[in-house]
Amino acid sequence: MKIRKAVFPVAGLGTRVLPATKAMPKEMLTIVDKPLIQYVFDEAREAGIEHFIFVTGRNKGSIEDHFDRMYELDATLEARGKKVELEILAHHQPQAGAVSFTRQQSPLGLGHAVWCAREIVGDEPFAVVLPDELVLHTPGCLAQMVEAAKEAGEKTNLIALQEVPADQTHLYGICGVGKRHGKMFEVDGMVEKPAKGTAPSNLSITGRYILQPEIFDILATQERGAGGEIQLTDAMIGLAKAQKFYGVEFAGERHDCGSKAGFLRANIAYAMARPDLRDGLREEMRKYVKG
Ligand code: G1P
Repeated sequence: MKIRKAVFPVAGLGTRVLPATKAMPKEMLTIVDKPLIQYVFDEAREAGIEHFIFVTGRNKGSIEDHFDRMYELDATLEARGKKVELEILAHHQPQAGAVSFTRQQSPLGLGHAVWCAREIVGDEPFAVVLPDELVLHTPGCLAQMVEAAKEAGEKTNLIALQEVPADQTHLYGICGVGKRHGKMFEVDGMVEKPAKGTAPSNLSITGRYILQPEIFDILATQERGAGGEIQLTDAMIGLAKAQKFYGVEFAGERHDCGSKAGFLRANIAYAMARPDLRDGLREEMRKYVKG
């Protein structure tokens, strides 16, 4: 099963990190020196994705600008002989024609956002990547999923899963665990944001999915679920009646950057993973972690 396209739902309002996101998309928040959206773009590119589909909303124009060429900036850097900076920009630049943008016109939920990409995805399996979740690992989380998808075979759906503490299961989609097949296991039921104490396990859906295009038919007719939103998890529950779903336990540390604590932790973790920053940061942090 070849996965060529990835959908990035980026229409969310980012209310958990206001006021930072009042005039700036949450996907443009910076972890060390790159916006969140660049991390997930790079992860998808590493996984072999060829077409990047962004489902945006109002006030998200800077995401589109970020993936465009900035001629004035290039020309200025060129004139000043700033080769390293020019290389950084070139390295992060998508190929012309490899990105598409469509809008989710109303904030009706993650399932609705994914459905908005149906015409661009067409009739082939595709990845969904949620930019507020970062996974620090090489190979990246999506590359691990794509590898698992090759093993899983045609017409299979895969979800990245990682354990969360029992007191956090109500914040995520949670999967029940069925029969194991190496690093994968059959998903035995899913529930979106279960009430406290009712989760079937503590394996939470992390923001990486590989889905079959039949999900769009279900999303098209779907009623609202948890939080009054059209939920991707509910559509997956529907699709699981007809197709296989596997959970993939991936390697790597997950950071939920949509929360303040997760965002701060990600900045520290990604900076500590950088040889050029690690030592200086360790020294600086010593000042703040006394007592
Ligand atoms: C979404 C999904 C949820 C998943 C989570 C991961 O929820 O609906 O199943 O566990 O992303 O971040 P959201 O965070 O958009 O409320």
